[in-house]
Order: sequence, then C-alpha cells, then structure tokens
Amino acid sequence: MAPLWTAWIRIPCNTNTPPRNSLQALICIIVYGGVCVYLFDTMRTFQWLALGSVVGSAFALTPEKLITAPRRDNAVPNRSGKVALFSTAQYSFDTHSSSSAWWSLIDLKSGKVSQLTNDSNVSELTWLGPTDSSLLYINGTNADVPGGVELWIADSSDFTNSRYKAASLPASFSGLKTAVTKSGDINFLVYGQSYGNGTAYNEELAVTPLSSARIYDSIYVRHWDSWLSTNFNAVFSGTLKKKGSKSGSHYALDGSLKNLVAGTKNLESPYPPFGDSGDYDISPNGKWVAFKSKAPELPRANHTASYIYLVPHDGSKKAEAINGPDSPGTPKDVKGDSSAPAFSPDSKKLAYFQMTDISYEADRRTLYVYTLGSEKTIATLARDWDRSPDAVKWNAKGNSLILGTEDHGREKLFTLPADAGDDYKPKNFTDGGSVKGFYNLPGGEVLVTGSAIWTSWAVYTASPEKGVIDTLFSANEVDPGLKGLGPDDFDEFTYKGNWTDIHSWIIYPTGFDKSKTYPLLFYIHGGPQSAWTDSWSSRWNYKVWADQGYVVVAPNPTGSSGYGDKLTDAIQNNWGSYPYDDLVKGWEYVRDNFDFIDTDNGVAAGASYGGFMVNWIQGNPLGREFKALVSHDGTFVADSKVATEELWFIEHDFNGTFWANRDNYRRWDPSAPEHILQFDTPMLLVHSSKDYRLPVSDGLALFNILQERGVPSRLLNFPDENHWVLKQENSLVWHQQVLGWINRYSGVGKKNPDAVSLDDTTVPVVDFNP
Ligand SMILES: *[C@@H]1O[C@H](CO)[C@@H](O)[C@H](O)[C@H]1NC(C)=O
Ligand SMILES: *[C@@H]1O[C@H](CO)[C@@H](O)[C@H](O)[C@H]1NC(C)=O
Ligand SMILES: *[C@@H]1O[C@H](CO)[C@@H](O)[C@H](O)[C@H]1NC(C)=O
Ligand SMILES: *[C@@H]1O[C@H](CO)[C@@H](O)[C@H](O)[C@H]1NC(C)=O
Ligand SMILES: *[C@@H]1O[C@H](CO)[C@@H](O)[C@H](O)[C@H]1NC(C)=O
Ligand SMILES: *[C@@H]1O[C@H](CO)[C@@H](O)[C@H](O)[C@H]1NC(C)=O
Ligand SMILES: *[C@@H]1O[C@H](CO)[C@@H](O)[C@H](O)[C@H]1NC(C)=O
Ligand SMILES: *[C@@H]1O[C@H](CO)[C@@H](O)[C@H](O)[C@H]1NC(C)=O
Ligand SMILES: *[C@@H]1O[C@H](CO)[C@@H](O)[C@H](O)[C@H]1NC(C)=O
Repeated sequence: MAPLWTAWIRIPCNTNTPPRNSLQALICIIVYGGVCVYLFDTMRTFQWLALGSVVGSAFALTPEKLITAPRRDNAVPNRSGKVALFSTAQYSFDTHSSSSAWWSLIDLKSGKVSQLTNDSNVSELTWLGPTDSSLLYINGTNADVPGGVELWIADSSDFTNSRYKAASLPASFSGLKTAVTKSGDINFLVYGQSYGNGTAYNEELAVTPLSSARIYDSIYVRHWDSWLSTNFNAVFSGTLKKKGSKSGSHYALDGSLKNLVAGTKNLESPYPPFGDSGDYDISPNGKWVAFKSKAPELPRANHTASYIYLVPHDGSKKAEAINGPDSPGTPKDVKGDSSAPAFSPDSKKLAYFQMTDISYEADRRTLYVYTLGSEKTIATLARDWDRSPDAVKWNAKGNSLILGTEDHGREKLFTLPADAGDDYKPKNFTDGGSVKGFYNLPGGEVLVTGSAIWTSWAVYTASPEKGVIDTLFSANEVDPGLKGLGPDDFDEFTYKGNWTDIHSWIIYPTGFDKSKTYPLLFYIHGGPQSAWTDSWSSRWNYKVWADQGYVVVAPNPTGSSGYGDKLTDAIQNNWGSYPYDDLVKGWEYVRDNFDFIDTDNGVAAGASYGGFMVNWIQGNPLGREFKALVSHDGTFVADSKVATEELWFIEHDFNGTFWANRDNYRRWDPSAPEHILQFDTPMLLVHSSKDYRLPVSDGLALFNILQERGVPSRLLNFPDENHWVLKQENSLVWHQQVLGWINRYSGVGKKNPDAVSLDDTTVPVVDFNP
C-alpha cells in the first residue's frame, strides 16, 4: 500500500491517521482517492466516520488514557538498517496489571510494525550483528538457579523455533551490551548487585538476617528511595564462544562471569538510582570496558565527583581511572561528575562528558576524548560551547560525534567533528520535540526516537546534512487514547523577566477557541536546574492538565537549564529572589497579553523545587493571585534542609555548609512567621514517604500549619512512592486528587461536567474535623 500519492497520504490521509474532521475526510476521499485506502480496513473507516460526526466536541486526554497508553522504548535498528526493534508495555485498569513488555520490529521503509514476541520471559532483546539477523536476550527464568537468568539466542526471522539457551547466569542480571571479537566470540556485559567480596548477589538465595537493624559509620546512609547496604552495583563480563559443527554450531558461555568493578574498594557502577547500561560501554573489538564510578577517595554525600574507569574485558587487570586525580591525562581543574562513556568505532578512543565543579550536580558537561594505548591523552572538544550535552555517539566513520543536549526547551541532536577546537559551535540537526535515543544507520543517517508535548513516541530518520528526513511512526496517530493530539496543541513565547528574557511554553486544551477564556494553570518546574521541555511525560503531562479546561503556562525562569550557564547558575543562593520575580513577571505578562487566559481564576502547581516555590508563593503576594495551589514534595522549613542525603546539593545551592552559612539556608524560608501569616490560598499537599531527598516531614510540617491557620488544605501521601508517583493505581489517585483540587477552586469543575472531581475519590478521606 505505497501508491503514487504516498506523500499526500502521509499528511492528511495516512492510513493510521484519521482525518481530523469530516471536511478533511471528504477532501481525502475525493481528491486523493483515499477511499480505496480507507476501505481496506472497514473497522478503521467506521471509526473515522464516528470521529467525523463528533467534530467540535471535546476530545480529552484523561488521566486514564495517559496511564493506559502504550509505553515504548527506543527503536534500535539492525546493522543493515532495514528494521528496528523496540519494546512496549501497557497497563490496564480492567485487569489492574501491566502487560509484560512485548517486542516489535518496525520496518524502516514502510513504518509497518510487526510483533516479534510477547513472551514475558524475554527482556533486553539485542541485535547480535554483524553477520546476521540474530538476537541475544535475557530470559527471566533460570531452569537451574532460582533468582538467576539465562542468555538466549534467536533469529528475528523465526523467533520461536530458532531460539536456544547460550548461558545460565547465577543472579538477576540486566543491562546487556555486546561486541563481536575478531575470532567471532561474543563478548558481553551485564550488571547486577555484588557482595563486598565480588560474588554476584542473588536476592532469592540470600540469607535473611534475623534483625532488621542497619548500622552506619559514614554518611549517605540512604539515597532516593533505598537505604545503602554493603552490596553495590557492579558490571560483569562474559564470553560466548561458538561451539559444535559448522551447520549446527551454537554459542555457549566460556568460563564464568568476571566482576570488573569489585577489585577497587568503593567503586560502584552503574551508579544508583538512575545509572543503567549507559554508565558503561564495551569497545567494538570486545577488548575494553569503560565504566563510570563515583570517586572512591571522597565521601559520597558531599561530592559529585566521578571518574571513567578502563578495564580489559577479560578482567586480567584492575580497573584504572582515566581522569582521576592521579591519571596522567586529567584536564586541569576538572573534578566533577563524569558520564556517558562511548568507544569510537575503531576502539582506539573513548568519548565521555565531565563537569568541572567537584560538588555541583548541574554544572555544564564538557565533551572529552581519551586516546587508549600508551598515549592516555585527553582532548577537550568545543570547550566554550554554552550547552550541557548528556548523550554522545560516534558516527560510523569515527570522524565526528553526535550529541544530544537540552537546548531552548527541547532535547536536540548536534554534531561536531572529532577534532573540534575550543571555539567550535556544534550544529543542531533536529529541532522540535525531545530526543530520547539515536542510533547510526548505514549511509550516515541516524534513527531517532523522541517525544513531544503532543506525542508519547515518535521514530524518525535524520542526518547532520539533511536534518529530519522522514517520520516513520508517531504514537498520536496510532494509539486510540492519544487520538486528536497534534503539533497545534502548544506554542511558546518570551517575556522580560527579572534580569533576562524568559522562555515559556503555552499548552492549549483540546477544542481550544481563542475567543473564549480558560483559567490559567501556572506550571512551576523542579530541579531547580532543569526545564519544561517539548516532551511527553507520564507524570505532569501538560495536556492532561490542559484538557480539564485550562491553558497551561510553563515558564523556564532563572535556574532553568538549556539556555546557557548564566541562567542556570544564577539561582545559586537565590532560590526565592530572581526565580520568584521571573514568575511574577510571567504571570503579569500572561494577564496583560492573552485575552483567552482567565488569570482571575488561575491556579499554580509545582513539584520538588517547584513545590518549594509554590510554598514560597503561598506566603508572598503572588499567592493571592491564585484560586488554588498544588505543592508536590517541596521543602518547607529552611532549617530541615539538612535532613537530605544529597549534601552536595544543598551545600552548592545555599553556597556553604549548614553551620557556617546558615543565613543562606534561611533567606528564603517559607516557614518564617511573616510568610505563614500570609497563607490564605487553598492548598493541596502531596508528599510521599519514600522520598528520602526531600523527606516527608516537610509536607507534614506544612500541613500542620495550613490546618492550624484555617487554610483549606488536604494532604495526599503515598507510603510506597518516592519523589515520583509511579505505580499506575497511585498515579490515577494522584491525578484524581490534584485535578479535582484545582477544578474545585478554579470553577472548571462547575463549567465542565466531564472534569475530574474530588467527589469521585475511590480512597476514603480521613477527616476528624469537629
Ligand atoms: C501474545 O500474542 C499472541 C499473538 O498475537 C496473542 O494471541 C496472545 O494473547 C498474547 N499473549 C499475551 C500474554 O499477551
Ligand atoms: C517462563 O519460562 C518458564 C519455564 O519454561 C515457564 O514455566 C513460564 O511459564 C514462562 N513464563 C511465561 C510467561 O511464559
Ligand atoms: C536486518 O533485518 C532484515 C529484515 O529482518 C534482515 O533481512 C537482515 O538480515 C537484518 N540484518 C542484520 C545485519 O541483522
Ligand atoms: C526461558 O528459559 C526457560 C528455562 O530454561 C525455558 O524453559 C523457556 O523456554 C525460555 N523461554 C524463552 C522465551 O526463551
Ligand atoms: C561472598 O560473600 C557471600 C555473602 O557472605 C557468600 O555467600 C559467598 O560465598 C562469598 N563468596 C566467596 C567467593 O567467598
Ligand atoms: C564531607 O564529609 C566528610 C565526612 O564524611 C568531611 O570530612 C568533609 O569535611 C566534608 N566536606 C565538606 C566540604 O564539608
Ligand atoms: C536548529 O535549531 C534552530 C533553533 O535554534 C532551528 O531554527 C533550526 O531549524 C534547527 N535546525 C535544524 C536542522 O533542525
Ligand atoms: C529582581 O529581583 C530582585 C530580587 O527579588 C529584586 O530586588 C529586583 O527589584 C528585581 N529587579 C527588577 C528589575 O524587577
Ligand atoms: C558563595 O560564597 C563565596 C564565598 O563566600 C562568595 O564569594 C560567592 O559570591 C558566593 N556566591 C553566591 C552566588 O552567593
């Protein structure tokens, strides 16, 4: 089905895309003969007719649709670039369970998707190139070792009948990476937990201690949502060798796994909680492994320093830091967090990022290239570039690199030559949306997986020369729950902030009509060194909020990333000054410039630093401009900030220690009496018990005050969630409460009978008010 009018079909009449309205359907059918295409699939045709008949009625991205929409991972092409592999998982409120991830191939010419397997024992399907269409995967069931896994090999052309077991691994490993050696062996890496002695930790076989006590002699006793133990993450290496006759040869594990990390005290890789296989890499010739670990000679709680280690794949030598304090090539004064090691195609070079500051987690990342062998030199690339890239890959020739970086509210791809000098400005070759993953294709193109405000998953091709070339898949055109979303759903504007121009997103509700008015939803991001980007999120999804009947305004004030160091760094020691004033000016700009936004009935919401800011706004004049506030996991009592485990964070952001610089901590204290006395706006607090960075006590403290001061308020707590509410049933309650809260006070609840209401709660509300 690739007729002459492909180009036309792509736009208004894609077989996957229902025409937006009946007029469009008519045009498609009459002008482009699309009727033939449509009639191939009567079911779809029926859906389109149905859609055509409800033109103008409000489509809405509801919390249920968001939570149950398919969640897909990056599309990874095979070597010939003919197909790409990706996984999908989906939650159902009918069965109250998630499907296991299923695996599909997308044809890179036609965009056609076909299922490879939905066997829940299959995870981490990986192309095994370079010679064939074979795949390696982790099988979650081990026939011999409870709690272990197995490695299996299969051919994509006949997945079920071709598969065989290649290795039995003694613990629950993941993070598969492979390289084929000159002799045809498969060298692989996985990671898992390690005992102190280097043996892989298998939870199912571990002896449960009699007491639950934990004892610590050093700080950093817990992080994110778990308490530290004597176990740690480690990268393990292994080799699959070809055995047997030519016709019936199979790969099988040769020897046992080697722990590449445990040889040096205090190393850990990948680094929890967010570290994954991106924290390590295997050289294409299979000989070398690079991994990231936090600096072993420094306390973990008050430094961000980390180094890249290099170790032979066979573990014959101890891992050595290439950019540690004693490494010969370490660039002068560069001491911060290292990340994203990536070997060049010829295995002779290693690209990675490093921040300069030893304890600033949001410092700018600079690109470095280390030369292996006797040289051990480190070159700095595009040193003066005022962006902080977080993803890097070499092109196939190894003469240039591709970077993923936040830029002006998007995550874009940039390219630069491998010998770029200090003043080289890398050039972007994508623009809208946010790139999540990218892989080389033959011929110099890359296959990109990304998202945008209006689509949860898009796969497209791009190249440094041509920019974006062709879109193969976009979830909004396929997933029933996302139907109707499109690039017209949002816009952007810039206004004069406190000391510089501030960029902001503006997101419209479905069926938006400029001549009507919609209450303002003022969205305040966390970090604070982060940004609202043109991307999809299953938490704080702009469209879900907008579709209740709001216009969402999401500004990137002082502290935001992706606009250069100056804007990001200016928030240090200034949590409540410039950013607050940027927000005030943003709110005034909205009031004065957008007739369709009703600021009289507006509401504001934020999480993390955004939660702090909402707490600060509650006790300051801007708070009086909102009908309701939502504060998720924010800090409240200035003096309790020291209860976090991330001391590097507070000691950077408040510019000193808790004892020597207490005034810095107290300067913007939402719990100061003069601010408490201003509290007056109905406020919903969300604070979960497993948030160890911003402990739940701050939410409890604020709730005490709001209630004693008689401010309408509600506390929503999840005992089993961390800084994020991830479990689908919890996420549904979160949305129900958060949206119900703002809808009650903004008037949206009265105007829109379909809007989420607090009365719909399925969780009993505890209320002992007399
Ligand atoms: C797996 O896919 C097959 C074929 O599409 C389908 O019949 C089966 O129900 C699926 N199983 C699960 C567990 O999703
Ligand atoms: C995984 O494999 C084991 C062993 O064959 C089997 O018992 C189990 O049912 C499999 N799980 C699924 C979901 O197929
Ligand atoms: C890539 O996939 C295509 C289609 O399945 C297959 O014909 C080809 O052999 C694969 N190539 C590699 C190198 O895996
Ligand atoms: C997974 O491993 C189990 C145990 O060896 C085996 O029975 C099962 O068939 C395997 N399944 C897949 C999909 O590889
Ligand atoms: C390493 O320590 C674990 C836990 O104490 C123990 O079970 C295992 O046998 C030890 N491994 C070796 C090689 O001593
Ligand atoms: C970091 O913590 C260690 C103790 O864990 C302490 O010795 C050191 O002085 C601290 N560094 C700073 C900058 O406070
Ligand atoms: C690069 O980004 C700019 C905006 O900064 C945009 O106008 C341009 O289209 C982008 N280039 C490509 C090739 O996408
Ligand atoms: C910028 O913010 C600071 C701190 O809140 C304030 O003192 C100053 O007046 C603001 N400047 C302008 C131009 O509004
Ligand atoms: C941080 O403290 C240092 C030393 O006291 C001082 O020089 C610097 O100006 C401070 N920075 C900020 C942003 O307050």
